[in-house]
Amino acid sequence: MDAFLINGKKQLSGKISVSGAKNAILPIMTATLLTEGKSILHNVPHINDFKMMSHLLRIIGARVEHENNTMKIDSSNAGYWEAPYELVSKMRASIYVLGPLLAKFNKASVAFPGGCAIGTRPVDLHLMAIEKLGANITIEHGYINANCPDGLVGAEITFPFISVGATANTLMAAVLAKGKSILNNIALEPEIDSLISFLNKMGAKIKHLHNNSLEIIGVDKLSPVEMTMIPDRIEAGTLLLSSAITKNSFTICNCEPQHLISLIEKMELAGCKFEISDGNITVFPAEMIKPVDITTEAYPGFPTDLQAQFMSYMTLANGKCQIKETIFPDRFMHIAELNRLGANIQINNGIAEVSGVKKLSGAEVMATDLRASAALVLAGLAAEGETTISRIYHIDRGYEKIEQKLNAIGADIKRIIQ
Ligand code: UD1
Repeated sequence: MDAFLINGKKQLSGKISVSGAKNAILPIMTATLLTEGKSILHNVPHINDFKMMSHLLRIIGARVEHENNTMKIDSSNAGYWEAPYELVSKMRASIYVLGPLLAKFNKASVAFPGGCAIGTRPVDLHLMAIEKLGANITIEHGYINANCPDGLVGAEITFPFISVGATANTLMAAVLAKGKSILNNIALEPEIDSLISFLNKMGAKIKHLHNNSLEIIGVDKLSPVEMTMIPDRIEAGTLLLSSAITKNSFTICNCEPQHLISLIEKMELAGCKFEISDGNITVFPAEMIKPVDITTEAYPGFPTDLQAQFMSYMTLANGKCQIKETIFPDRFMHIAELNRLGANIQINNGIAEVSGVKKLSGAEVMATDLRASAALVLAGLAAEGETTISRIYHIDRGYEKIEQKLNAIGADIKRIIQ
């Protein structure tokens, strides 16, 4: 298992570019199954989650090519409807094949996803919505078996709370269903908007209604399309925070500042200033970091996927703050590792209390999940001396060549191949 060896406190400057959005591209990859023919996706980075999703699509019968930053998916010969446990257990987003397979083949068999480092993460809302569209679902031998011999039928579905994954899966199932569907209390994440744009480009009829609802008029057929993927707001946010924590000013390019408003507002409260122009954000970090409380929420609230990285930043604040995780309450595995680097964080009644320290000092730590590993990279960049982060396969799932990108602006991160 590879590790990162980070020599902290280097001077960072220049420009760093953001890749395409992992969480937008994963459902779009599975949406290509809804059609026959070759879809072309641009701005697709080489990360391990895409390798795994490509593997799954190939098992289903699609041809997937990924060269440079372009991915071509030809689903003409897709004809298998099972997502095996070995893949689903490694990548929860495999559940995204459920909606498209059911819509296309009237049946699907997807391994039941297990827990993961950030919690139990059930899929009951996905199943509730798909049942409402007329599918019969049984769970046997660890597999979700869904079928609808006469096809799916439009329905009105109200999600009891917001789920990104359930919104995406239901959308992909409903676009080919007979008649009209209304989805209420949907996720408003930019990744969902990008999926809607992709599906509409394929010929789907999806429109936003007032009050977080969507109307979908089922169509008979969808066509393959070519589209450029949106930039990854979580990678961009991680990079903004790497500038702030190291107190080095640099520019994050090819991002969408509109998607980062909740983070930028909190960083402003911490004392950062920004210059924002046309897809580029330059951060002017605060010398004295003010403590700022955050509570994670569905978009446009503060993203849970930046909670760990923001916590790293707050470890060096001049005072105390509270970090409340409302999306995945168990998502605090990084705390013990940050404390190994000299941070002072405690959990009280499910809320992380961060008491800022004067400095972090390098140590050996372990990555526990994707965003926790990004938080450790940030802490390692700001820490004195050497930090070794083991199990960085987590970071390779979602960040393309993060060490090369940061080294290009002055960081000293070595990948140790073990
Ligand atoms: C997606 C993102 C993930 C991000 C999360 C929240 C992808 C591939 N992953 O995950 O990076 O952290 O959104 O922004 O896009 N829940 C249920 N039942 C369900 C579905 C969800 O109880 O059927 C719960 C979850 O356990 C969680 C909350 O709902 O507490 C929100 O989860 P959800 O928005 O569905 O997250 P994911 O789509 O899994």
